[in-house]
Amino acid sequence: MRAVDIIAAKRDGKELSRGEMEFLISGYVSGAIPDYQISAWAMAVYFSGMSPAETAALTSVMLQSGQTIDLAGIAGPFVDKHSTGGVGDKTSLILAPLVSALGIRDPMMSGRALGHTGGTLDKLEAIPGFRTNLSTDEFRRIIETDGFAMTGQTKEVVPADRLLYALRDVTATVESIPLITASILSKKAAEGAEAFVFDVKYGSGAFMKEREKAELLARSLVDTGTAMGKKIIALLTAMDEPLGRMTGNFLEVEECLDCLEGVYKTDEGSADSSDLMEVTLELASRMVVLGGKAESTDEARALCETCLASGKPRGLFLRNVASQGGDPKKLLELRGKWRAPFRGEVRVPGGAAAYITRVDALKTGRAAVALGVGRSRTEDPVSPTAGVEFLHKRGAKVTPQDVIMRVYSATEKGLEEALALLGEAVDFGDAPPLKQNMVLKEISAAGAA
Ligand code: URA
Repeated sequence: MRAVDIIAAKRDGKELSRGEMEFLISGYVSGAIPDYQISAWAMAVYFSGMSPAETAALTSVMLQSGQTIDLAGIAGPFVDKHSTGGVGDKTSLILAPLVSALGIRDPMMSGRALGHTGGTLDKLEAIPGFRTNLSTDEFRRIIETDGFAMTGQTKEVVPADRLLYALRDVTATVESIPLITASILSKKAAEGAEAFVFDVKYGSGAFMKEREKAELLARSLVDTGTAMGKKIIALLTAMDEPLGRMTGNFLEVEECLDCLEGVYKTDEGSADSSDLMEVTLELASRMVVLGGKAESTDEARALCETCLASGKPRGLFLRNVASQGGDPKKLLELRGKWRAPFRGEVRVPGGAAAYITRVDALKTGRAAVALGVGRSRTEDPVSPTAGVEFLHKRGAKVTPQDVIMRVYSATEKGLEEALALLGEAVDFGDAPPLKQNMVLKEISAAGAA
């Protein structure tokens, strides 16, 4: 077999065999096949696409390039959720303890903030002492005791994706649906779960800006995962505005604690966490159905709401904080107080119309990076205490000089930059905007709903 022949076949729109992809990927990981040939192949895939069978074969070849987590000996069901990323997206911290309280085990491996989107690991590490570099043994033990564990991917998990993703990033081949599918699914399958719910976001703050592309990705994740023997549901969810009322690492942990205590709806006009909880409860309900704990989504949603009100998920969350080296007492003491030192506000300008019609997610995400919440390069540090607290969001009736956001920055320069971006992130109108549905569509092996 020769790499050049495989590249030519893909360039000409032919379907590659599993053996051919195994040759390419294992050759790339071992160093036998150079970057320039894999770049040419990735570009050929970008233009020619892949069949569902090819995408499934690529996913499984990538999965086999490294270690997988063996959950044998722990009672399931094992179900996880993956989000394609957004601004203020903190659903994992609420739904992992919630579904665990309902008897589902969630082996969650997450990522860090990159670009304008936040990362679950950075949020968790804002909790004093919390460790996200668990060994496989610790990961297994905590899943067994708490029902869930939240850790980062080790270097041994899907090394092919780490290499390939870095190459795609600099060869303009990230935006290929089959390559994204294989990248996401191989990493998820390595966790050892048997079922997954995908939160595929679309809108200004999402990885996929257009709904049509997000839908294609959701369909590809469902079809490929199903072909690999996994149970999969994907939800298309809105990401035009930041989710919830906080964007920032420790700020988002605080918001999750409030939600776990049932505090997520406030007076009309004030920003609250109801959009966040709508997405969280819809995702959690699908996890409960896939885990076999309810027959229908409606039944699962009712179970989730009752369970949340019982306080059990809050208790599990704090127990997990302790299991992963964090200090629950300190977390509760710092709540509401621990904020970055450089502070400012965004107010309604004079002459603005009466309603907020939009708070743009992308601009907010970029402002968050300037504040120190996120990073532009993988190696940059993040601030636990920087961020934005929203007092009003889309739909609020406001008058000039009302405070829309409180802003906390790790640096003076970051504050200035963020305030300029945030000032431009808010649009006003004379009439209230239409209410937006957070969950647009469900896609499963059975079809779309
Ligand atoms: N996220 C991933 O994990 N992989 C991709 O290819 C794109 C987004």
